[in-house]
Amino acid sequence: MVEKWTLLVSFICIVNFCMTSARPPHIILIVADDLGWNDVGWRNPQMYTPNLDKLAINGVILNSSYVQPVCSLTRNCLMSGYYPYHTGLQHAVIKANAPGFLPSNITTLPQKLKEVGYVTHMVGKWHLGYCNWKYTPTYRGFDSFMGFYTADEDYYDHTHGDGYDFRFNTEVYHPPKGEYSANIFAERTIDILNAVNPKNESLFLYLPFQSVHAPLEVPEKFEKMYSHIHDKDRRIYCGKVSALDEAVGNITTVLRERGYMDNLLLVFTTDNGGPVIKGANNLPLRGAKTTLWEGGTKGSAFVYSDTLLKKTKYLNTEMMHAVDWFPTLLHVAGVTADSSIDGLDMWPTLSENTPSPRKEFVYNIDEILKNAAIRVGNYKLIEGSPGHFNGWYPLPKEDSPQSKAHDNSEEYDATISPEPEYQLFDILNDPTEHFDISKKYPEVLNQMKQRLSEYKKSLVPANYPPPDPKSNPKYYNGTWSPGWC
Ligand SMILES: *[C@@H]1O[C@H](CO)[C@@H](O)[C@H](O)[C@H]1NC(C)=O
Ligand SMILES: *[C@@H]1O[C@H](CO)[C@@H](O)[C@H](O)[C@H]1NC(C)=O
Ligand SMILES: *[C@@H]1O[C@H](CO)[C@@H](O)[C@H](O)[C@H]1NC(C)=O
Ligand SMILES: *[C@@H]1O[C@H](CO)[C@@H](O)[C@H](O)[C@H]1NC(C)=O
Ligand SMILES: *[C@@H]1O[C@H](CO)[C@@H](O)[C@H](O)[C@H]1NC(C)=O
Repeated sequence: MVEKWTLLVSFICIVNFCMTSARPPHIILIVADDLGWNDVGWRNPQMYTPNLDKLAINGVILNSSYVQPVCSLTRNCLMSGYYPYHTGLQHAVIKANAPGFLPSNITTLPQKLKEVGYVTHMVGKWHLGYCNWKYTPTYRGFDSFMGFYTADEDYYDHTHGDGYDFRFNTEVYHPPKGEYSANIFAERTIDILNAVNPKNESLFLYLPFQSVHAPLEVPEKFEKMYSHIHDKDRRIYCGKVSALDEAVGNITTVLRERGYMDNLLLVFTTDNGGPVIKGANNLPLRGAKTTLWEGGTKGSAFVYSDTLLKKTKYLNTEMMHAVDWFPTLLHVAGVTADSSIDGLDMWPTLSENTPSPRKEFVYNIDEILKNAAIRVGNYKLIEGSPGHFNGWYPLPKEDSPQSKAHDNSEEYDATISPEPEYQLFDILNDPTEHFDISKKYPEVLNQMKQRLSEYKKSLVPANYPPPDPKSNPKYYNGTWSPGWC
């Protein structure tokens, strides 16, 4: 009798175990907006980010994880696995009043994950087009969406320019008045975590925070953490980073309490380098958001898991690019990505620190700005002007006013200053791009130019339509809304 009982229990356990281990892991992809290379506590002791630091230090810190110079472009990579120059999104961000979008024939990451039974939720900033419902999150693979469509907005009243921009699924939604968006998004995420059953469902959560994009707004409590910083922009910016950190802390607490952590991969990445004119810092890297320099494209990122990574607590220096998350996360979910995408499966590299399958990548090719950059092995070729911010922007001293970049343009600017036609850097030996070696190594320069021209053959012309007056929120009761393309 006893034996029979034991047998039955162990049978249930085996079945249970099989079910648990067969269930695809929960995947949480957290994207910080405009977080600079030097704006994270695991690199810069000035920053107070204890929750992120703990995850990063106990996970795998990515030291060579590249992103695009601006928002829409990187989000395109994450959702599609294609470089923006293959989807027509290579030229600047999608503007609220222009009918730009991620092409509708792209199968998105959540769509692929739904094929194997994932529940998929999105909380935060979309910025991949909304002029027609078919381009919006709940039509592109997400079971639910709470957040906004455009590039940026007020953190409290959710207005972008002349219109309101905040939704729950397709409905215009008004969060509690005066609540900061990092809190709103953390609370929504926690509601999702409480609604999903982590033992019998697999969750994909895409969590692109508004934090820490401009405008410079943060609850006083966070700004006060940096009262020793005299530069107001930097002080508020750092506060925004700490608000984001608290939101991630609240979310990870619930992940643990609810039992998600047994079978979960958490990815954290910025979408581009930090805007130095809005309080961010990328030292020791050159340049900033919007540029092809490392300061615009080398992203702060890490992965964390209690159970899935074979090797943890180290700095991974293997080359990867934002397009690689698509096939990598699909691998984790047990799905094979379409071979036509640009992304490569980085899972063995992330999990075991094996050599990266990626030996080269395209920073961007923008035929309108007439600039481009590629990386092959150690070398980086820049064609045309890398952009507007070409220096190494100092960290504001804690006891003196900041010396700042004297530039106010936030977007790519077509009136960029003249630059040498080509610049060549050895990124491994000169990660801060001090030494243009194009004259010294003409052979390498030629090979790199040839490689770039090969890449250019598959360029899809930029779809960068002009503003359309039909987009005006006045036609939609004051809200930026789909329905005009
Ligand atoms: C999407 O359509 C464009 C234009 O017809 C085509 O060039 C591209 O290859 C298609 N992409 C995919 C992933 O089907
Ligand atoms: C985190 O949770 C605490 C406790 O509930 C709350 O006071 C705080 O506002 C939350 N912070 C964020 C950013 O959600
Ligand atoms: C998971 O379990 C919950 C509660 O036991 C149930 O309501 C839900 O339908 C289940 N979901 C799936 C996908 O089996
Ligand atoms: C990590 O990246 C930084 C910035 O590019 C670089 O200076 C540093 O050498 C890298 N660390 C390692 C161990 O490769
Ligand atoms: C228009 O917006 C206002 C607030 O912004 C709201 O009170 C009202 O219900 C909206 N009207 C319609 C028809 O949606």
